[in-house]
Amino acid sequence: MRILILCHAFNSLSQRVFAELERAGHEVSVELDISDAVTREAVSLFGPDAVVAPFLKRRIPDDVWHAVPCLIIHPGPPGDRGPNALDWAVLDDEPAWGVSIIRATAELDGGPVLAARRFTMRRARKSSIYRLEVTEAAVEALFEALARLNHPEKSPENIIEFRGQGRWRDAVTADARRVDWQHDNTETVLRKINSADGQPGVVDRLAGRELRLFDARGEAELAGAAGQLLARCGGAVCRATTDGAIWIGYLKTTDRQDFKRPAVDVLGEAADALEEVRPRRTAQDDPRGPIRYVEHGEIGILEFDFYNGAMSTNDCAALLEAWRDAARRPTRVIVLAGGRDFWSNGMDLNGIEAADSPADESWRNINAMDDLAEAIIRTTSHLTVSAMAGNSAAGGVFLALAADRVWARDGVVLNPHYKNMGNLYGSELWTYLLPRRVGEQGIDKAMGHRLPMLAVRAHELGLVDAVGPNDPAEFDGFVRQAARQLAERDWSRAVATKKDRRTRDEKERPLAAYRAEELERMRLNFYGFDPSYHVARYRLVRRTPHAWTPLYLARHRHIGEPPASPETTR
Ligand code: COA
Repeated sequence: MRILILCHAFNSLSQRVFAELERAGHEVSVELDISDAVTREAVSLFGPDAVVAPFLKRRIPDDVWHAVPCLIIHPGPPGDRGPNALDWAVLDDEPAWGVSIIRATAELDGGPVLAARRFTMRRARKSSIYRLEVTEAAVEALFEALARLNHPEKSPENIIEFRGQGRWRDAVTADARRVDWQHDNTETVLRKINSADGQPGVVDRLAGRELRLFDARGEAELAGAAGQLLARCGGAVCRATTDGAIWIGYLKTTDRQDFKRPAVDVLGEAADALEEVRPRRTAQDDPRGPIRYVEHGEIGILEFDFYNGAMSTNDCAALLEAWRDAARRPTRVIVLAGGRDFWSNGMDLNGIEAADSPADESWRNINAMDDLAEAIIRTTSHLTVSAMAGNSAAGGVFLALAADRVWARDGVVLNPHYKNMGNLYGSELWTYLLPRRVGEQGIDKAMGHRLPMLAVRAHELGLVDAVGPNDPAEFDGFVRQAARQLAERDWSRAVATKKDRRTRDEKERPLAAYRAEELERMRLNFYGFDPSYHVARYRLVRRTPHAWTPLYLARHRHIGEPPASPETTR
């Protein structure tokens, strides 16, 4: 089919839908929902068999849905309607929730439901449920709905089980989820903050200021008078609830232009005055820091769940320290497990944007990323694995390649290129790591476009060595099992071969030479005449709306030339 994806932004769900539709052999193009006229034009240029809307904030024009079947992916069960479906599900502590594929009509979310899926809710941030449970359910239901377009006589398989659950809900107001520190217990506070995280954030008064709260985690030991700030740890601050305390990792002001920054940076002196506590990296469920190290026999697993996958200069330094500690352990295999939502999205663009000199902070951040990549590459005491359970982009993908093996969960979406960030040249030793995996001819296939890639495609290209089960728990099991095999089968020989190769490679061309050359190019990106990187970063960090659809997405706008394949799109 010819399928036009119409979306407010090309977000994670839209990217996954795009990649899955292409994988299934459909001809896909994308238009961002900028205005009714632009949507009409896209439909007329592309002539789609169906429009799929994974992420829309408003109605599709009447003449468009009259002319073409339009399928809306709604993150709520059949009957549920309204703009904040998932926010309400988290806030109301729903035990199970759903995704519906609704055929667009005049009524917002009121059309016939073509397919639906149910899932068990997890206690997590709204954005995390969106990226995992909602995305998986949406992809499955969408394919069922597309099949139904050709067979309208078949009734949807499992809608019956949802009967009675859905209704219209208005947008969640700031008051509906405002924290009452004198009465709300930890569970309630977490639920309220999670319901608005990633956007728009719960509004609260903190140290005398009106701020939005993000990245909340329960604290196991600290306690104090309800509402009081108790301690700080890394970038986070701890605040007492009626029955315990929570950590708040990120804050932003209520100014629309503002963006998320570590809580201690936003609070300034109010945070400086707090007692500093250290994270305990080896505690199984320590909520204080994003880095955790656990051992299973000869396998050391290093998790790093940085908020939004962004790795600041300090984060990189902390992870490097944890890496060095892990490499001193008498284990055989170290697994870099990343986080559940993201493995890594590279440098912390918010931290860079907030710096007095973004160019200087970019320089520090990329050097810290490179230190980490280099330490992983130079580790010859262990076999090393990057196990990507979450999505990864830009420098994050290339950091993963620093390990001996790269495994990915089936559903992850990778963006193995830097082009979308103002044509950054990129570093993380990619000029050493990528060619030896994909060959010279594979470099352009990975780096030469701006489009997302499924794990299976990354596997075909050689970026990824193995694709594991899609279910996160099953993927964890797969990683442990496969890591155990690495530790057992021919480990000594594999380590010896790795050492030899490293020595040979270093003689042929030292890592320092790759790094210096990449950084020379990055210096130009940061300090040179062309401001593209600074403009792209500004726009991403401040979530600036699009005024047009980039041509690499809007293939229907490639006037006079055949639509480009994903490998050649510039
Ligand atoms: N630094 C800081 N924040 C980042 C980030 C980064 N490197 N990458 C993503 N984010 C943030 C986004 O700003 C957004 O923030 P929000 O929660 O305040 O809305 C959040 O992560 C989710 O990103 P979004 O784009 O909405 O979701 P997505 O799942 O669709 O992500 C990506 C798609 C990762 C491809 C896109 O965010 C991206 O291109 N990121 C930049 C990657 C990059 O260029 N890194 C630097 C070069 S090494």
